Amino acid sequence: MTNVVVVGSQWGDEGKGKIVDWLSERADIVVRYQGGHNAGHTLVIDGTSYKLSLLPSGVVRPGKMAVIGNGVVVDPHALIAEIEKLEKQGVKISPENLRIADNATLILSLHRELDAFREDAASNSGTKIGTTRRGIGPAYEDKVGRRAIRVMDLADLDTLPGKVDRILTHHNALRRGLGVAEVSHDTIMTELTSIADRVLPYRDTVWLFLDKERRKGARILFEGAQGSLLDIDHGTYPFVTSSNTVAGQAAAGSGMGPGSLGYILGITKAYTTRVGEGPFPTELHDDIGQFLGEKGHEFGTVTGRKRRCGWFDAALVRQSVATNGITGIALTKLDVLDGLDELKICVGYKLDGEQIDHLPASQGAQARVEPIYLTLEGWKESTVGARSWADLPAQAIKYVRQVEELIGAPVALLSTSPERDDTILVTDPFED
Ligand code: IMP
Repeated sequence: MTNVVVVGSQWGDEGKGKIVDWLSERADIVVRYQGGHNAGHTLVIDGTSYKLSLLPSGVVRPGKMAVIGNGVVVDPHALIAEIEKLEKQGVKISPENLRIADNATLILSLHRELDAFREDAASNSGTKIGTTRRGIGPAYEDKVGRRAIRVMDLADLDTLPGKVDRILTHHNALRRGLGVAEVSHDTIMTELTSIADRVLPYRDTVWLFLDKERRKGARILFEGAQGSLLDIDHGTYPFVTSSNTVAGQAAAGSGMGPGSLGYILGITKAYTTRVGEGPFPTELHDDIGQFLGEKGHEFGTVTGRKRRCGWFDAALVRQSVATNGITGIALTKLDVLDGLDELKICVGYKLDGEQIDHLPASQGAQARVEPIYLTLEGWKESTVGARSWADLPAQAIKYVRQVEELIGAPVALLSTSPERDDTILVTDPFED
């Protein structure tokens, strides 16, 4: 028995929701450790659909504890709205099943505004990131700049006004520079005091809680958001999110030691997608790209934006296997490839006449690389709903085996439709 960390091995949207839900049924505690409400997934349980952005998936299952770790940036307005929406659907949320780290950073309205102001200004100069405009980046900037307001500050009315002054000195200087109205001390104090009573009941010393539960033998599932190529260090910088999305962050972002992390499961889509700007070597601008987008319903859960689609990039996923220490993968959406005459897998790149086996870190080089492809025969049969290898056409098995070999990690789970039971289980990550 071990703990499990779930990470996206591409640019997010790999289908983590279904796999996390499947695993959360086997876990006692589900922990989010980075990102915020820029993530988004839909869970379908007994025919009811639940949309989650900030809350860990375990929250919709009775008897499970959901934990928001210190590495998450928490928008209290989004938190309250999500809790209210779930309560309307009959999900009971209380400190009995939700804890929020007292040292987690808050996203305030001024962060959301700054995200939008900067993206709008960058649109005019063609340098926008294509963020979700949720204030994620500005909140992390304030955390690293040591001027953030944290969950516990809501309970300390003696020190809060000084912290508000400190954050405003910075933000009002920026706002003056951007030519937008300044924010007053009273506005922020009113915002904070209005949400305090709704947030504080959930606060906890999360590292201590997790340590006690670990000692009692609880099974802990760490639920990563976004994907490894959106990692602030290892991703396609600057077209990334503002947190570390790789598995190591599960330790720092929850307060558990790295030795407790256990099995690292990389969720991997059978082709590649990306939302927002940035390099994408295997992107398809043709009918096949269109086919993958339509058949795979590739529209963002949070922003509704159309996702860019392309061939599977084994060089990128091999990189993620290394930077995360991935033990095994959950391969998703294989059925979207049904019916294609041939399939391509990127095995490396050509850069300025040289052959390379990984994506270089420089933005210029990332834009110049040309994929080197391996071509495989497709299959005509449907793989939808397959629950054993015997249900899969020979060419589909060949494709999966080729993926495993090229990325250097085995398939632990294979998902063949959005239905939770349409999954081929090779290895149960909790039992590995
Ligand atoms: P931010 O996280 O809102 O700052 O956005 C930075 C980049 O990460 C943009 O390209 C977003 O489209 C991307 N991004 C953020 N969250 C997700 C996600 O959950 N799935 C896919 N892309 C995401």
